[in-house]
Amino acid sequence: HCFSKSEEDGFLYCEGVKVEEIMEAVEKRPFYLYSKPQITRNVEAYKEALEGLNSIIGYAIKANNNLKILEHLQKLGCGAVLVSGNELKLALRAGFDPTRCVFNGNGKSLEDLVVAAQEGVFVNIDSEFDLENIVAAARIAGKKVNVLLRINPDVDPQVHPYVATGNKNSKFGIRNEKLQWFLDAVKAHPKELKLVGAHCHLGSTITKVDIFRDAAVLMVNYIDEIRSQGFEIDYLNIGGGLGIDYYHTGAVLPTPRDLIDTVRELVLSRNLNLIIEPGRSLIANTCCFVNHVTGVKTNGTKNFIVIDGSMAELIRPSLYGAYQHIELVSPSPPDAEISTFDVVGPVCESADFLGKDRELPTPPKGAGLVVHDAGAYCMSMASTYNLKMRPPEYWVEDDGTVSKIRHGETFEDHLRFFEGL
Ligand code: LLP
Repeated sequence: HCFSKSEEDGFLYCEGVKVEEIMEAVEKRPFYLYSKPQITRNVEAYKEALEGLNSIIGYAIKANNNLKILEHLQKLGCGAVLVSGNELKLALRAGFDPTRCVFNGNGKSLEDLVVAAQEGVFVNIDSEFDLENIVAAARIAGKKVNVLLRINPDVDPQVHPYVATGNKNSKFGIRNEKLQWFLDAVKAHPKELKLVGAHCHLGSTITKVDIFRDAAVLMVNYIDEIRSQGFEIDYLNIGGGLGIDYYHTGAVLPTPRDLIDTVRELVLSRNLNLIIEPGRSLIANTCCFVNHVTGVKTNGTKNFIVIDGSMAELIRPSLYGAYQHIELVSPSPPDAEISTFDVVGPVCESADFLGKDRELPTPPKGAGLVVHDAGAYCMSMASTYNLKMRPPEYWVEDDGTVSKIRHGETFEDHLRFFEGL
């Protein structure tokens, strides 16, 4: 793994570079630290898994929208999955081939759809009104749009309800009882729409590949039905959603290869192109969120480690009760007393925790503390709550050089929103 404690000196390293030395070299504030080689390795794992299939790896930009990271993913051959016009603009800026991009979402604006139509990205139809808007956008752009039907397959992904998206009462996609209506509506707009495939997305943090298999079986049946009505569709998009080992227990979790192997025969049997939309499994494990310990305190029965990072920079624990592994960057002395701590930030509310009930040695003031697996849905979900400005980002490159890949936001950035008012 790209972040690991050395067996020799007990310090945390990222690709052979001591994290504590990086902390000394950069601004003293919380920051995100990525391993560029790990990003490459994660993409390679998907590419190898997909060998022998016609496929697009559509990286889900929502997971992490750092421009430098996007440029790297694009150069490695990824396409992109977008959920807003700004993500589309950023994907273009990063050099992604628009014909390998998919525009998803249940509330796409007409304005954004016009850009998508102009650029030739695949668009997923999510609802009746969405179809109307895509038709309108095609007319404005003077372009025929390649569309996929986002089908809601009603498969339970067995994850936190906030990240389940393909069950029947969710706001996403269209249900099978309406399928015929959509096929007729597409047929009625031959100048504006070309149906090229079917899409589904079940949810996120999925750790059982059988769930993808169940969905793929349903989707292939839908594709057979759609083809039997004369549509020449050849894309199956099975979405993203593969989970990762947040707990660091060494448990064996499904790999990209396991995921692709469970659908490979189905895809080949229908001669389909496969689109996948991974976010988390490409980027989460490439990053640590690095903090400094401000102090330690005890109240009632609870011990707290207070750090400078918070729910503003990394909200997954407080929003989803998500577990992300936490450790100190320096070794604990052999005689260190281990206690149970909540790891909390300085934000003024009790939802502000990064970890609960963690067994850790008591750290000195200023010690480095990392939250692991912070590459996905951490920086991209950061806010400036309590005027904690969004942190800088760095990566360790292939040759061990540490470079800044995003400036940290400053107080002056905030004041800019009021200039000239
Ligand atoms: N495609 C679609 C249509 C999606 O809705 C998502 C994520 C993805 C792809 C990428 O899924 P992934 O491979 O990253 O699981 N903020 C939450 C995750 C929300 C995911 C929503 N959809 C979290 O921090 O856990």
